[in-house]
This record gives sequence, C-alpha cells and structure tokens, in this order.
Amino acid sequence: MTKPTAKLEIGGQDQNHEFEILKGSVGPDVINIASLYKDTGMFTYDPGFTSTASCESKITYIDGDEGILLHRGYPIEQLAEHGDFLETCYLLLYGELPTKAQKEDFDYRVTHHTMVHEQMTRFFTGFRRDAHPMAVMCGVVGAMSAFYHDSTDISDPHQRMVASLRMIAKMPTIAAMAFKYHIGQPFVYPRNELGYAANFLHMCFAVPCEEYKVNPVLARAMERIFILHADHEQNASTSTVRLAGSSGANPFACIAAGIACLWGPAHGGANEAALNMLDEIGTVDRIPEFIDRAKDKDDPFRLMGFGHRVYKNYDPRAKIMQKTCHEVLGELGIKDDPQLDIAIELERIALTDEYFIEKKLYPNIDFYSGITLKALGFPTTMFTVLFALARTVGWIAQWKEMIEDPKQKIGRPRQLYTGADQRDYVPIAKR
Ligand code: CMC
Repeated sequence: MTKPTAKLEIGGQDQNHEFEILKGSVGPDVINIASLYKDTGMFTYDPGFTSTASCESKITYIDGDEGILLHRGYPIEQLAEHGDFLETCYLLLYGELPTKAQKEDFDYRVTHHTMVHEQMTRFFTGFRRDAHPMAVMCGVVGAMSAFYHDSTDISDPHQRMVASLRMIAKMPTIAAMAFKYHIGQPFVYPRNELGYAANFLHMCFAVPCEEYKVNPVLARAMERIFILHADHEQNASTSTVRLAGSSGANPFACIAAGIACLWGPAHGGANEAALNMLDEIGTVDRIPEFIDRAKDKDDPFRLMGFGHRVYKNYDPRAKIMQKTCHEVLGELGIKDDPQLDIAIELERIALTDEYFIEKKLYPNIDFYSGITLKALGFPTTMFTVLFALARTVGWIAQWKEMIEDPKQKIGRPRQLYTGADQRDYVPIAKR
C-alpha cells in the first residue's frame, strides 16, 4: 500500500514537493515537514504553535472537541474516581498502571525522598516574606540542582529516575515550606505514615504547638486536585520543560523553567486570577456588566477560567473539579459561599450566551479550583504553586520521554525576520 502524502505546490507548477503523512494511534494525522527547509528554502509560520506538533508522545491524549483527556489511554474521570495521585504518577512515568507490589514499592520510594536537604531551609530566609510563593518556587526548585549532584547526569537512566522520584517527592515539601515562610510559621517536616496529599496538608496546616489531624475527605479532595493537574500534553509549561531539556540541561533546572512559564495568568496563574475576578464581581447582579466587558473587543478583560486552546467543549477536568468543590464545601459546612454563587451563575449565563457558544468558550479547570483551594485553607497566592506541584510529574514524564527518544534534537525554532536589512554603523556624533 502506498503511504499517504501531502503535496505542496509553490509558485504555480514550477515546484512540487511531497511530504509523508504520519498517523497517530488516535487524533489528527500530521504532515512531516522536517525536510521542508532543505527541500524548499522556506520555513512554516505558526505563532503560538496552533497547527504544529512539536514532538511524538505516548503519554497524554486530548480530544478538545469531545472534551476527552486520557493518560496512557485511561480517562481522567476513571483515574480521579478510583485511583490516588501516586498511581497516576506511576502511570505517567512507566506507561502502565502498577501492580499492588509495584505500587507499594513506588509509594515507599517517593515517601522516603520527601525530606529536603536541611541546608535548603536557609534558602527561604533569603527571600522577602511578602515574595510571591511562585517566585520562591522558581528559585528553590532551580537550586535543587545545587544540592542533588548525584542525579543530574541525564545520560544515566538510573540518575534520571532518581531525579524524577526526588522531584515528585520533594515538591510538596518545598511548596509547603514556601507557604509556611509566606505566612510566617515554622516549617513542618514530612510524615511518612501519611499519604501524599494528606502529608502535604499536614506540612501546610500543622503547627508545632498542637495536634493536627488530617481530614480524610479533604485529603481525598486534594489527591483528586493533584490527579486533575498531573499532565496535559504539550501545553506551554511542558513545552518549556522540553525545550529547556533539549539542550541537555539538568532536570531540576528544566522544571524550574516550567514553573516560571506556568506562573502566567493565561496558563497556571488563571486559578488565582479567576478567584480575584469573582471577588471583583462581588455580587451576582454585577455579572452582566462583566459578561459585557468580556465581549467588548476594546476591553482587555477576559472571563478567567473560561476558554482553552485545545478544549472546544467542557474541560473534563472542570466537571470533576466542580463536584470536588461541592464535596469540600459540604464537608466544611460552608453553605453560603458568595464566590460559589457568583461562579454558578456566571457559568450558567456564559453557557447560554451567544458570544461564548459561538467561540466555544467553556469553563476550564481553573474556574472551580480556586474556590475549592480557598475552602481548603490556601490563600490565592498559593493556587499556582499547587498546580506546579501536581504538574511536576507530567513535566518530568515528558522530559524523560524526550531524553529517551532517539530522534531527540535540540529545539531551535526559526523566524520570519521583518527587521532592518544589513546597514552600516553610524558614529554617535552623526546620528
Ligand atoms: N473571555 C472572553 N473572551 C475570550 C476568552 C475569555 N476567557 N477566551 C478567549 N476569548 C475569545 C478571544 O477574545 C478570541 O476572540 P476573537 O476570535 O474574536 O479574537 C477567541 O475567544 C479565541 O481566543 P484566543 O485568545 O485566540 O484563544 P487562545 O487559544 O489563544 O487562548 C486561552 C486560550 C486559555 C489563553 C484564553 O481562552 C484565555 O485567555 N482564557 C482565560 C485565561 C484562562 O482561563 N486560562 C486557563 C487555561 S486552562 C489551564 C491552563 O492551561 O493552565
């Protein structure tokens, strides 16, 4: 059978080029244009990579039109309903769900890597107390490469796995330390008898002067929030991690780059921005005013927590997040939450409004995560930190996949240059 190809005609009939079409297991085919420049002397132009597959991957699949998210083939709904976060981590890293013995071994290895080098605590005191915890995360995670030299040789598979486990294990400890430093409380060490999410809640909310018991319903909700954020194929921060890693940079430095990218309000910073927006709206009767602003081309305001580059349907994670949000508020006995009332009404109006229907703008994961995290006791400044904590496994799994791909090359996009042509230097006195 002849392989399918795509034909490109440049300048009438003079130049015809043929490119192979690659088939994925599911999802759109891709045109392999790797030889385009060699064959034609031209580049493709695709700002924001809206039509560009930057790599081949077996980890995560999204069908944006249908609102489907699969990790290694498993639907996110099933993983969030039946499993725990470390099971999803294992799946993302190794490609298969673990057996009971594999799961116990993995949990043990992660749990026994949760402490950070004691000297790292001094790093925190170098930051201003009012620093944004994401600024602290970028710095401290980047600094891990200065502490764990024995896992920075990326050519050694064993070191790659040790670095991966260290990062998954230590990220909650570092995130909790950033939180404690932010609120002026002493750091709380990890506790090995607790599960991943329960341990994180303990490190965040326990204080040395009294006993702190982790509420299992809230720990389960935290676990689910982590699962929902674990990976999302080639989003901006993951692509950043891959690009940083493509030069051979060590994994800790690459994850720090991912954290920096995630911080932006169009990406992970949207959960913080969504809650701030609900605050700004203030009361249900003001919603129409904000809907009008979101539709106004001359107003930069956007409904935070709405819209997605890939999902042109309900974000499947948003549905689970909404359910989790109600569970958390129910468990905490929060009956009247003005922000939740505004969110529910805003969602109702947006889903029936012509502008949002036509542009296929649905609530994304960040819409309900802010309300849930606030109810769990986190200030808005911590929201993106929690996203970074959970996304670390996705970043590291994608980084490992890239390093282990024999076709891997340094990432080096080209450009459409529209600046000045070559010209001669003019001495300052003559300008
Ligand atoms: N409110 C109002 N209008 C919007 C919104 C919004 N939230 N999002 C997109 N639009 C409009 C936009 O103005 C554009 O209109 P037109 O075609 O008339 O110019 C159209 O919808 C398409 O938007 P776009 O900006 O070209 O789409 P994009 O794929 O480049 O951007 C996005 C995707 C997520 C950055 C954008 O929808 C947005 O800014 N949303 C708000 C921020 C947010 O919630 N981000 C979280 C994303 S999910 C979690 C994550 O990935 O971290």
